[in-house]
Amino acid sequence: MKKALKYLGITLGGIILILLCLALFVSIKGIPTYEPQVPEVSIQSDSMSIANGKRLVTMICAGCHLNENRQLAGGYLEDIPTAFGKVWSQNITRHETEGLGRYSDGQLMYLLRTGVKKDGNFCPPWMPSFPLMGDEDLEDIIAFLRSDDPMTAPSDKAQPAPQPSFLVKALSYVAFKPLPYPEKEIVAPPPSDQLAYGKYLMNGLIGCYECHSADFKSNVALTPESSVGYYGGGNPLIGPDGEIVPSANLTPHESGLKGWTRDQFEAAVRSGKKPDGGTLNPAMPPHPMLTDEEIDAMWAFIQTVPPIDHVVDRYTPE
Ligand code: HEC
Ligand code: HEC
Repeated sequence: MKKALKYLGITLGGIILILLCLALFVSIKGIPTYEPQVPEVSIQSDSMSIANGKRLVTMICAGCHLNENRQLAGGYLEDIPTAFGKVWSQNITRHETEGLGRYSDGQLMYLLRTGVKKDGNFCPPWMPSFPLMGDEDLEDIIAFLRSDDPMTAPSDKAQPAPQPSFLVKALSYVAFKPLPYPEKEIVAPPPSDQLAYGKYLMNGLIGCYECHSADFKSNVALTPESSVGYYGGGNPLIGPDGEIVPSANLTPHESGLKGWTRDQFEAAVRSGKKPDGGTLNPAMPPHPMLTDEEIDAMWAFIQTVPPIDHVVDRYTPE
């Protein structure tokens, strides 16, 4: 009996020692690095593509990368949960050494698809990847970032590298991994295919599901519809004063958007207006640039997602 206990003790001690070594390894080594497989890309740049790119960057990237001078020079991100560490978005202006002058178009494309930077470092989970965005839309984003718009005017501001927490480092060995670079061209559906277009806007382009499903950690980037609680809400977002703001249930269920009209949906999405006249917390970013046609397509699509019975414990301002 005594002997058995002794062996148990040795085994447990061994396991604890291995775990301690692993923890030490993870905290010293940090997030694993990867070899970028830089694709050949040729970016079409004309006034149409730059205008589309500007609209997309304003809707998708500006929230994290735009500073108080309306330049894409990056800054400290206050709304990243502290459990993830301290995070600065980076300078993506046209500056030669501090901005995107360091990146080729192919390196940018690779980063935006997979999450792997040119130096092989991976940006989990705070810089989203865009695995489902159409090639043309991504190319237009790059065309705009290279254009002489005031938002991209060179800034020499160097941002600190993110300081990931132990949690993020550990999860980057098991859960947060780069996405594969697509093997084929991704073609966005045309606006005439309304349901597919609405789905593309919400899942591929803007990523509404990322905030509106159960949790960032259980979202599935390549197949959003397999994310836990897909559009059922409850993901704890962080508001401007550090308050927790659970996202809303957008599914066509009584506890979601059933009973809403298209115009109420539009007012909420474009200007953060609630049906009762109140204002949504800015944790829900307003999207004023969406066109009527896009709102129609999103509204049509959201009726088709499976209803989820989930009464979200919503944020109520004092
Ligand atoms: C939710 C916030 C967020 C959004 C949205 C976002 N980014 Fe970022 N971005 C970051 C953070 C944080 C980093 C730094 C990541 C790191 O270094 O680990 C980063 C890094 C980058 C880098 C790497 C720069 C370097 O110095 O290596 C590029 C390029 C970039 N982002 C472009 C974009 C573009 C283009 C978009 C829109 C299509 C976008 N980002 C959307 C937060 C964001
Ligand atoms: C950055 C996270 C985030 C993104 C991205 C986001 N939302 Fe939201 N959304 C929220 C949060 C949080 C709330 C709840 C705000 C509150 O309770 O005041 C919300 C609320 C809403 C509401 C109000 C529903 C209600 O019951 O009051 C609608 C409609 C909505 N979002 C639609 C969308 C659509 C469509 C998109 C994509 C275009 C989108 N959201 C993208 C976080 C987000």
